[in-house]
Amino acid sequence: MARAGGELSSASGPPPAHAVAATVVQDAQPAGYAGSDSCAVCHSDKMESLKGTPHSQAKNPRTPAAAHGCESCHGPGQAHIDDDAKGHIRRFGQIKPAEMNETCLACHNRGTPDTSRSFPPA
Ligand code: HEC
Ligand code: HEC
Ligand code: HEC
Repeated sequence: MARAGGELSSASGPPPAHAVAATVVQDAQPAGYAGSDSCAVCHSDKMESLKGTPHSQAKNPRTPAAAHGCESCHGPGQAHIDDDAKGHIRRFGQIKPAEMNETCLACHNRGTPDTSRSFPPA
């Protein structure tokens, strides 16, 4: 499926105003990030499937939930939301294994303080 605009390439021109009003106000997002609540507007199924997994435990400061949520793995998503063609997002089906590893190893890395758990879990 070819799409206009490569993944993660930055949008040109001034960033449009938030196309989607988040229903819940989150902490201010860094530039380019939209926050998981914004993703949920269209991908509520993903929100559901993440619930109850170790990745959604916000009280664990090392989880995606405590960091950028969906965007911890899929990358900053504001450009994706603003893009009518819905490009500009990391698609794991289309990226190289090295990029996949980079994404996961950002947290699942032996150099991080908690090395008590094996990965993948036994
Ligand atoms: C305004 C609606 C909307 C919002 C908000 C939105 N998306 Fe999407 N997203 C889409 C549509 C439409 C597609 C295209 C679906 C397809 O290509 O099959 C898509 C595709 C994707 C894909 C690729 C799916 C695939 O088949 O590989 C990912 C990953 C994704 N979105 C993640 C996110 C994340 C993360 C956020 C929040 C930062 C987000 N989306 C916000 C509508 C949205
Ligand atoms: C821990 C990393 C991680 C987090 C956090 C995460 N995803 Fe994903 N996502 C993946 C991976 C890996 C895939 C590809 C494998 C698969 O389809 O299960 C994927 C696939 C997808 C797809 C396309 C495939 C499909 O089944 O439709 C969409 C859309 C998507 N994610 C949206 C989201 C949204 C929205 C959130 C936040 C609620 C989110 N993801 C959180 C890693 C993540
Ligand atoms: C923002 C940090 C972060 C990212 C990015 C991340 N993870 Fe995790 N992941 C965690 C934390 C924290 C846990 C909870 C377990 C722990 O404390 O070690 C976890 C748990 C898991 C588990 C165990 C699930 C279970 O049921 O016990 C798997 C498998 C996993 N991650 C796979 C992945 C994969 C694959 C990716 C990349 C697509 C990824 N993670 C990206 C932080 C992250």
